[in-house]
Amino acid sequence: MAYRYLIWFCQECPAFRLAEFEALLTLFKCEAKICCPNKEKPFLVVQSNQREDEEKLIQVTKRSVCVRSLIHLWADSTSREALFSQLKNCEFIKQKEYAGKERSFRINVDTYGKKITLQTKVDKIEELAFLPFEGPINLNKPDNSFQLIEYYGLLSNSAPDEPYELYFGRWLADGGRRFSLDVSLKERKFISNTSMVPWLTAIMSNLALVKDGDVVIDPFVGSGSLLIAAAKFGAYTIGSDIDYLLLHGKRKPSRRYVKQRDPDESVFANFAQYEITSQYLDVIVSDASKPCWRPFEFDAIITDPPYGIRENSRKIGTDKYDMTYKVPEEYIDCHYPSKVLYRFEDILKDLFALALKNLKIGGRLVFWIPRITDYKMEDSLPHHPSFKLISCCNQDMKLNVSRVLACYEKLSNESNNEIFIPYVIKNFRELYFTGIAELNDTKQERQAKHRQFLGQKEMN
Ligand SMILES: C[S@@+](CC[C@H](N)C(=O)[O-])C[C@H]1O[C@@H](n2cnc3c(N)ncnc32)[C@H](O)[C@@H]1O
Repeated sequence: MAYRYLIWFCQECPAFRLAEFEALLTLFKCEAKICCPNKEKPFLVVQSNQREDEEKLIQVTKRSVCVRSLIHLWADSTSREALFSQLKNCEFIKQKEYAGKERSFRINVDTYGKKITLQTKVDKIEELAFLPFEGPINLNKPDNSFQLIEYYGLLSNSAPDEPYELYFGRWLADGGRRFSLDVSLKERKFISNTSMVPWLTAIMSNLALVKDGDVVIDPFVGSGSLLIAAAKFGAYTIGSDIDYLLLHGKRKPSRRYVKQRDPDESVFANFAQYEITSQYLDVIVSDASKPCWRPFEFDAIITDPPYGIRENSRKIGTDKYDMTYKVPEEYIDCHYPSKVLYRFEDILKDLFALALKNLKIGGRLVFWIPRITDYKMEDSLPHHPSFKLISCCNQDMKLNVSRVLACYEKLSNESNNEIFIPYVIKNFRELYFTGIAELNDTKQERQAKHRQFLGQKEMN
């Protein structure tokens, strides 16, 4: 017998829905199949021949930040009459556990793309009076909660009189959107200017298939926002960052109107705030271009590397010709190494090199990459023969720039394979400013032109 389920996605994250959902199906080993995926629509129907997949789909839903609700689908159609006739013939409807005298129930009516009044909702429930439910109605804590959902399209200002699609089924679970409230940046002890919003960090951990007992690393850890999600999902977490002052909570406060940071702000303090210190391994000051990890296999790498737009990224090094220069003994303790430009191309090479050496086979590498939207997605991503691209989700930023959440799975330890970095990544910084400034403009000229350009765009 085929069991069908309706996945109702929430509004905020269309670009990430499918990728997150597919990753979670993999994580929970759920064999349900997606029927006719449609990136635009907030509904997805999945089907399985095994009843056990229902429990797995509930786990998927509870973990997902993109899914709003999971419904065991009893009928779906493009017309009300057809929906009702399907329902009358539905094999579940007469089963005791749903229709029995002692089973309380409730029916909710939801619409997408059109607002309707409470009275209209009541009228729609009355139309369902033919359902053979014999139990008492219980609006607060029913044994079974049923849902009629009407889909009026994506444009609420031109919604038709009748819905394009109707669904009816038994509610099973709500998604994990609460995650965003539980670890909200507003109340978080330690944040930086680039701390990521919780729902995106959860999606990253979901794409990376993070589970209990995994060991997860972020080599550009900053305030550790990505690790919090991984830790919440049961992973042991570790990170590194080149910025000593940031890691020690000594940089200028990132919150508006706050003049001074608290003395105990740190990544660890956040873990303590969320009572997940058992998942905290450490964060260390270290340059990602010179990884210090022993031969060890992480289960996943999740990171948001610097793109070098707001400021140039730096790594330890020198432009001086005299490579034989050694820091005199007496200065070694107080020596701060000099830094040089860390191009995004090199950041990616180092990231894949880290994954090649320190990620388990089958482990996932999930990271953000900037994109110039004038270039096609497939021309904007690196390729490495030892890694398979699993998904890439585009998030528009501004002007012609977006960022892509890329997810790769490691296939082999073959280290002779070369990474291919596309032109647009190699020249990202220059392309970002192209059309606005000449390549040989000075930094100040470029920035001034860029500011002017942004100002004009915003005014338009
Ligand atoms: C986009 S931020 C990451 C933000 C982080 N996800 C958070 O939750 O705050 C990039 C980070 O990379 C760090 N970084 C820049 N160059 C680095 C390098 N060579 N090695 C390690 N970290 C570096 C920066 O200090 C910054 O904290």
